[in-house]
Amino acid sequence: MEKKPTVLSGIRPTGNLHLGNYFGAVRNFVKMQETNECYFFIADYHMLTTHPNPKDLQGNVRQVIIEYLAAGLDPDKATLYLQSDIPETAELYLFLNMNAYLGELERVTTFKEKARKQPDNINAGLLTYPTLMASDIIIQRAHLVPVGKDQEQNLEMTRTFARRFNRMYKVDYFPIPKAFNFDDELVKIPGLDGSGKMGKSEGEGNAIFLCEDPKSIRKKVMRAVTDSGPEQMNQEKPEAIQNLFSLMEVVSSSETIQFFDDHYNNCTIRYGDLKKQLAEDIVSFTRPFYERIQELSANDEYISRVINQGAEKARANAMKTVRDVREIIGFRKIY
Ligand code: AMP
Ligand code: TRP
Repeated sequence: MEKKPTVLSGIRPTGNLHLGNYFGAVRNFVKMQETNECYFFIADYHMLTTHPNPKDLQGNVRQVIIEYLAAGLDPDKATLYLQSDIPETAELYLFLNMNAYLGELERVTTFKEKARKQPDNINAGLLTYPTLMASDIIIQRAHLVPVGKDQEQNLEMTRTFARRFNRMYKVDYFPIPKAFNFDDELVKIPGLDGSGKMGKSEGEGNAIFLCEDPKSIRKKVMRAVTDSGPEQMNQEKPEAIQNLFSLMEVVSSSETIQFFDDHYNNCTIRYGDLKKQLAEDIVSFTRPFYERIQELSANDEYISRVINQGAEKARANAMKTVRDVREIIGFRKIY
């Protein structure tokens, strides 16, 4: 039987997980760990390209691990680790950089965007972000990389670098990885501010976080944008109202949705009641996550164990790759 593709993805430690991240990405990671060999890591080396405060970095990395565990990633099913626990990544990055060209690196959209955002800090790490990312991926010899649309160009670079290595050394060593979108069930979770999607930088009150306490969730939902109500039977819902229904789609029962939909259609809906119900359904949905996050946050020893366990497995696999690569290039065997 042919082996199932190896899945790998990197997550930047930037802030807390919200319902958008959960339904758009993490829920799929959790599903994939059941069927595939999975590697999920926290991209803390990559964070240095934007010069974060070292204190924030450590705290954020821990928080991200905690939230992924709370969301259902299982360290006995998927390999969860920190990028910086695999120093071999840096050696492979060096090799890849020798065959990565200024022109192609400068053309990457995310580089251009970041360079615009931080004109005083256009460091070499920022330029070579795609070679480090390629190293992350091919060091584990991954086949599928679940990422959002914004990462497709970086993935294309990874494919280029992997092919180039194979061609240059006349080997068929690295699999050529593919970006994997969850297109067939693509969801967009809207925010609470009436338009657009839920996002952590969309402004106060827009996003609901998995680590959020019930009181704060209720407050946010009750403040969500609505309008003065439908004026005609069966009229189309304006965006702000559709957004509340879209949120119900993921957290509420079909009876509840039907109930409010009927009342909307015959113009007897009371938005206050809808929001109250939505808030309660979000609270029930997030409660297990919230409680797990509290529990895990108090369990330093367990978190350290998870991180060590992931590092050990990911590193063993990475060391094998770098050992092979050194041999292919023609360096002396040192490990
Ligand atoms: P970000 O937090 O923007 O870096 O996104 C991390 C992951 O969550 C990506 O795979 C996004 O596609 C997904 N994601 C972020 N916000 C939403 C949203 N509102 N709806 C669906 N997916 C989202
Ligand atoms: N660049 C990715 C992002 O910004 C994070 C990342 C780093 C990554 N290395 C990776 C994603 C390897 C997938 C595979 O979200």
